[in-house]
Amino acid sequence: MAKTLSKPTSIFFMLFTIFFFSTYVIADEAPVFSKNLPPSSLGLEQKKLSHLHFYFQEIVRGPKPTAVRVAQANTTNTSPTGFGAVVVIDDPLTLLPENTSKVVGQAQGTYTFASQSESALLMVMNFAFTEGEYNGSTLSLLGRNTVSPSVREMPIVGGSGVFRFARGYAQAKTYTFDNKTGDTVVEYNVYVLHH
Ligand SMILES: *[C@@H]1O[C@H](CO)[C@@H](O)[C@H](O)[C@H]1NC(C)=O
Ligand SMILES: *[C@@H]1O[C@H](CO)[C@@H](O)[C@H](O)[C@H]1NC(C)=O
Ligand SMILES: *[C@@H]1O[C@H](CO)[C@@H](O)[C@H](O)[C@H]1NC(C)=O
Ligand SMILES: *[C@@H]1O[C@H](CO)[C@@H](O)[C@H](O)[C@H]1NC(C)=O
Repeated sequence: MAKTLSKPTSIFFMLFTIFFFSTYVIADEAPVFSKNLPPSSLGLEQKKLSHLHFYFQEIVRGPKPTAVRVAQANTTNTSPTGFGAVVVIDDPLTLLPENTSKVVGQAQGTYTFASQSESALLMVMNFAFTEGEYNGSTLSLLGRNTVSPSVREMPIVGGSGVFRFARGYAQAKTYTFDNKTGDTVVEYNVYVLHH
């Protein structure tokens, strides 16, 4: 059922179209690559400071390791610092040091043995939280982890969900290291500014 528009109607549509497109351009609604917004448009008036405290549980041996070495260089095995090895982790984050304690999230990412002169890792990981109001929110850590000092500090470079626009730092302290299995528990204190 084809339908032709009556003359007044098509003139109306023509004028409407011209009007519509001109307002589109004039009203700055045309596709734009970038524009300034008031911070309040994303609810960014006030900053919050959060302190998160949890334990990072890493199991390297056994049937269900949470850390797996996925790559290394030919020279890694003869390097005193393990230079060139890359490990992928999916480590549970728990409220208390015991591995049976409540899980509040996972640390997922990689670390690379990135120094030839000392034990120093490049850490690239996300803390993916699953607890309460933080469920589904993440913090991204990118930093250098020199394993020997008692407290290592690494930057938090961003976040998602409740941690949008996050910036801050994480302090990591080895809680237990089993020198037979290589299993490690690391205490994390994370301080972040976010909105
Ligand atoms: C690494 O080792 C393998 C096997 O031993 C050898 O085939 C390969 O050429 C070596 N690569 C380099 C870059 O030395
Ligand atoms: C938890 O830790 C205990 C002792 O510290 C150990 O025997 C057990 O295998 C660990 N469980 C897991 C799932 O890692
Ligand atoms: C977290 O969110 C997921 C997906 O929305 C849901 O399945 C899960 O039950 C939640 N966990 C907690 C502890 O609220
Ligand atoms: C492992 O740790 C125990 C005590 O914590 C120590 O006596 C032992 O020498 C260590 N072994 C190695 C290989 O470092």
